[in-house]
Amino acid sequence: MTDDPNVATYKIEDGIAWVSFNRPDKRNCMSPNLNRRMGEILDELEYRTDFGVLVLKGEGTAWSAGMDLKEYFRETEAKGIGATRQAQREAYGWWRRLRWYNKPTIAMVNGWCFGGGYGPLYSCDLAIAADEAQFALSEINWGILPGGGATKVVVDLMPLRDAMYHAMTGELIDGKKASEWRLVNESVPLAGLEARVRELAEVLLKKNPVALKATKDAVRRVKEMTYDNAEDYLIRAQEASNSFDNEGRKEGIKQFIDDKSYKPGLGAYEL
Ligand code: ACO
Repeated sequence: MTDDPNVATYKIEDGIAWVSFNRPDKRNCMSPNLNRRMGEILDELEYRTDFGVLVLKGEGTAWSAGMDLKEYFRETEAKGIGATRQAQREAYGWWRRLRWYNKPTIAMVNGWCFGGGYGPLYSCDLAIAADEAQFALSEINWGILPGGGATKVVVDLMPLRDAMYHAMTGELIDGKKASEWRLVNESVPLAGLEARVRELAEVLLKKNPVALKATKDAVRRVKEMTYDNAEDYLIRAQEASNSFDNEGRKEGIKQFIDDKSYKPGLGAYEL
């Protein structure tokens, strides 16, 4: 097993952190080493102030071919239950970090996306795929159920019939179908994928970052609440964000009511 730190990489450009799965020769499948490295990168980046949106992409022809069947399953299982649980913690750990990340996140799904790849896919707040990308819950093809959260991901995102079909057949769907089944927000031709992701990131970069973090958390949290619990949570979440960002929303109100320089219904205030 390699300890190569370059199995996951990042660069920061124009306010965007482009984080890459970087094992193109292995179709970016997730080895324990890659999972550890992703965890480190997320730690390094989370509170930096030189970017406002994180994009998760894949180098080469894959976004991620899921878990590394050799290094994550076979070799880890051979070391026993302790090693297996550690590998699970490292994988699920960075996906969880990403789900509640301090910055907005976009999955830019350029190619293959299989099984375990659905974990980080779901963790990203938004997902844009290439029409040409290929998705499958291929677990059934090699004799396991879609674990590691993958079944939960499709049941959360897709209509039940589609989720059941997807999980039971292991058939590939392309980016257009993934969008139709709501696994991603939209798909565009591969040639225009990066431009579309940049455009979306630009929209997010113009929003109040404290409000964005509160919003993304709220969307995930309230999904599992009753209406009354959600109402209560949202009041408290808004009041808690006010203590982080007293000036932002006052400025937003001022620019609309006093300066008349923008309309909140039509766009964001000047940060
Ligand atoms: N685990 C381990 N190695 C992998 C994985 C994987 N998930 N995916 C690709 N690789 C390796 C291949 O073994 C091969 O290695 P080698 O060059 O040492 O022989 C290399 O990556 C390139 O793979 P190819 O199969 O040659 O690439 P190709 O472009 O023809 O096919 C495809 C790509 C369709 C993604 C194919 O590699 C594949 O089916 N991979 C497995 C996908 C999968 O089912 N993942 C598991 C999902 S379930 C889960 O994650 C829990």
